Amino acid sequence: MKHRERQRTMQKDNMPAESTSPTSGSGSTRLYGIMGYPIGHSLSPLMHTLAFRHHGLDAVYVPFSVAPEDLAKAVAGAMALGVAGFNVTIPHKEAIMACLDEVTDEVRAIGAVNTVHAQDGRTTGYNTDGAGFLQPLQNLGAPLNELAVCVLGAGGAARALAAALLNAGCPQLVITNRTHARSEHLAADLQKRFVAVEVRAVPMSDAADAARQSRLLVNATSIGMHEGDEPLLPNRCFGPEQIVYDIVYRPLNTPFLQAARAAGATTIGGLDMLLGQGAAAFTIWTGLAFPLEAVRPALEARLD
Ligand SMILES: NC(=O)c1ccc[n+]([C@@H]2O[C@H](COP(=O)([O-])OP(=O)(O)OC[C@H]3O[C@@H](n4cnc5c(N)ncnc54)[C@H](OP(=O)(O)O)[C@@H]3O)[C@@H](O)[C@H]2O)c1
Repeated sequence: MKHRERQRTMQKDNMPAESTSPTSGSGSTRLYGIMGYPIGHSLSPLMHTLAFRHHGLDAVYVPFSVAPEDLAKAVAGAMALGVAGFNVTIPHKEAIMACLDEVTDEVRAIGAVNTVHAQDGRTTGYNTDGAGFLQPLQNLGAPLNELAVCVLGAGGAARALAAALLNAGCPQLVITNRTHARSEHLAADLQKRFVAVEVRAVPMSDAADAARQSRLLVNATSIGMHEGDEPLLPNRCFGPEQIVYDIVYRPLNTPFLQAARAAGATTIGGLDMLLGQGAAAFTIWTGLAFPLEAVRPALEARLD
């Protein structure tokens, strides 16, 4: 497929089936978007377009496919065009920091940005992944300051959610990852910031025990996205006293969640985090509450 044709197909695939927000096209329409590479499968255009429409905002949200070498130019171009805010996804979450005027303390601590807000010609980078991750746990009324946590994975998402959990008062955190050096590095970073808490990296060979002993067990790896992925843990690691949280949202019902549910655990899926991080970004941009219940069914339908 030729490049231009491919771009057209990608744009069509990203168009929300439910039409769009009431844009005036008068020059006062606010522009938002997401920069990533590739970007064809992002659910953010659908999510934010529906939220704009719900509030009757004159705004559009566009997927921008930006190659890594073009990131700085894309940010400058977005500012020149008057883009009011945008999300940032793989592979730009770290590199974007150098392209912005300011970042929050949370971004400095995590080392990654997923949301940019432009105001008065200045750009500020935020990270809403941590807040988005916590929201469903808070909705459940989970006693975060009592929960021993086990996080599987040590990538960008694991870093953001582990910091959010410690900030929220979790008393004990174990991290386990395929590449052990990466979990050691993350645990050491977090331990420096949260001295009163026990943060440990354990090798994958001990993951099953660490998982079984946890009250909150989180999959922050990409395992489960692809058919035929080997399960991360044996079924005996799950129990009815646990909250089991899989941040993978494609598919909605991952094998990890299925195994946890079969063992009687309370489960949370990745769509809740996706909505949570999007909701926090929407509020940063607009000052309005995100219409969660109006948007969720469309995303579920898209993922089904
Ligand atoms: N729900 C949401 O809102 C949300 C938000 C962000 C991310 N996510 C999802 O979370 C997942 C991780 O994202 P990320 O940004 O953290 O990615 P990342 O930085 O690339 O990290 C990927 C993680 O998965 C592990 N991994 C990958 N393949 C593996 C395998 N075959 N066996 C064992 N471990 C494996 C990696 O281990 P190594 O270090 O050994 O490579 C690493 O810990 C993705 O599926 C992403 O879609 C969801």
